Amino acid sequence: MPGWLWLAALAGGVAAALLLYWLLVLTEGAYLGPGTVTALYNRAARRYDAIKQFDDDDEAYFLGRPIARFLAGQTSPAHSPPWLLDVATGTGRLPLAVLRSSAGGCRIVALDRSAAMLAQAQQKLAAQGWPDVVLLAHDASRLPFADSRFAVVACLEALEFMPAPAAALIELLRVVQPGGLLVTTNRIGRDAALLPGRVFSRARLAELLRSHGAASVEIMPWQLDYDLVFAVRQDQGAPSETASWTDLLRCPLCRAAPELASGPDLAVVCPRCCWRLELTQGLWQAERLRKSLQPASS
Ligand SMILES: C[S@@+](CC[C@H](N)C(=O)[O-])C[C@H]1O[C@@H](n2cnc3c(N)ncnc32)[C@H](O)[C@@H]1O
Ligand SMILES: [Zn+2]
Repeated sequence: MPGWLWLAALAGGVAAALLLYWLLVLTEGAYLGPGTVTALYNRAARRYDAIKQFDDDDEAYFLGRPIARFLAGQTSPAHSPPWLLDVATGTGRLPLAVLRSSAGGCRIVALDRSAAMLAQAQQKLAAQGWPDVVLLAHDASRLPFADSRFAVVACLEALEFMPAPAAALIELLRVVQPGGLLVTTNRIGRDAALLPGRVFSRARLAELLRSHGAASVEIMPWQLDYDLVFAVRQDQGAPSETASWTDLLRCPLCRAAPELASGPDLAVVCPRCCWRLELTQGLWQAERLRKSLQPASS
């Protein structure tokens, strides 16, 4: 083989290796679709906390205490505790930070596409005395909830993994109640350059949030690679009272209110279409997603 062909083959190999490194390592499958992201997080779930090394004091300062203060302002003795939704909860970082700071002043639904990440969250929450957090294996792009139901909606370090981050952000705002709080993050710095189409400029992010119902938006530097975003939704009308977490649910396919199903397992079903959520080993999972959501290690 001529020398130039060897060189071309070598250059092609290096380019392919770099492309794979970017697709699988640097961007964690973000451009290969939610199924790949979920598979990678299922594999990494047991190592996630060791990699991230969260500091409890920092978590309380930036997340737990500000959110607990906000929730305290939303709580009234005449009403049941407000609802918090953490989307892409991972191993339960935000629920744990808020519960440690608020001493149970809210009810929490924690959603993630990775069942293995949720299994880690489940263990930690139970071990620290909060077994009542509702854990839901579901995709974030179409949340199975009615409009305007949550006093706080959070989504940390995850928008960049979604195929359409702006649409995902609008979907998060949809379920925030009037006067409620959205807490999210936006990649910045060197990492942002590796994620074209998945990050926002600060101006674009503020404009997007305002044009979809946020009355006030605060974007602050947080970590080397993330801004932290607090946005309060315009206060129009009173939030509705919800007794049980299943009252929050709406079918993500047709928007009907699901009903409790009879049978050996606890389940809710859409009366109009095929959508169904079932409780298995403490984890709510959509029937159609269950196969693709199984942890790789189980
Ligand atoms: C970097 S982790 C962040 C976890 C947690 N919020 C934290 O700050 O530690 C990203 C999480 O997003 C989840 N995720 C990615 N894409 C998702 C999607 N489309 N729907 C739901 N969860 C998703 C992953 O499974 C993973 O748990
Ligand atoms: Zn339906």
